[in-house]
Amino acid sequence: MGKHPTFVHLTDLHIGDPDVVDEKLYSDTSATLARILQDVKRLQPAPDFIVASGDLTNRGDLGSYAELKRIFAEAALDIPVVWALGNHDTRPGFYQGMLGRTDDLSAPYDHDQVIAGLHVITLDSSRPHRICGFLDATQLDWLAATLAVYPDLPKLIVCHHPPSLDEYNVAMEWEAISCADTIRLRETLAGHNVIGMLSGHIHFDRVSHWCGFPVVVGIGQHAATDVLALHAGLRMVSGASFAVGTVRPSGLTIAFVPQPAERRELKYHSFADMLVLIATYEERRLAALAAG
Ligand SMILES: [Fe+2]
Repeated sequence: MGKHPTFVHLTDLHIGDPDVVDEKLYSDTSATLARILQDVKRLQPAPDFIVASGDLTNRGDLGSYAELKRIFAEAALDIPVVWALGNHDTRPGFYQGMLGRTDDLSAPYDHDQVIAGLHVITLDSSRPHRICGFLDATQLDWLAATLAVYPDLPKLIVCHHPPSLDEYNVAMEWEAISCADTIRLRETLAGHNVIGMLSGHIHFDRVSHWCGFPVVVGIGQHAATDVLALHAGLRMVSGASFAVGTVRPSGLTIAFVPQPAERRELKYHSFADMLVLIATYEERRLAALAAG
């Protein structure tokens, strides 16, 4: 049996132009991304692809996308990247800065590809000057047609905004895809072999069972939402993470990698040590059995 497909989930990179002072940038996101990409390089086997699920930049300007491109080029990873756009991005900035595209600059960046036997479908929930996510009828029609193209392949959905988990709670829809569009998305995805959805936006590690599959959200790389303060508001604290996904026949597994990864080692067990430990346990178990 071949290796299971694996990928890295990055989100909310919030890269800034180093030549521009940005008082809404709370941490050195360039350094965080560079460090994380070095961590990604250490993964064995190398992941099949990387997902960057939006808020690639903090301001959506060309200088920030140039910085994003520079950091990835410097990391010299030979791994395809699936880009999605978030509310901090701009379509013209992304198209020109990342893809060198010069026309149709305001079109949503919806796209799909088959990688490592997975059908990865990316939706653009960003809207200019809106925090909330939206998916219009044209996008959902495109999604419905795209879902039907490879009926036998497992599907991974990428979208910056996660769905509204409480579809009636319009007051909180700024943290998700709008309630109305969430309902339409749910109806469009129903019955397809979707193994998971990768999102960001809310800046904390969270896995939700929704529509029959996990919706995974990461802290991202800018600032972390203090989950303990969520009853009162958004308290942003330091911290970052990325995640490693593995797709088995049983479904999607996500392992979160908190940052910084260079935490103090308390104990190291090699796999050889583990085999010895297991044998010791087995000896004790058999001895206990024999003793009655
Ligand atoms: Fe963000």
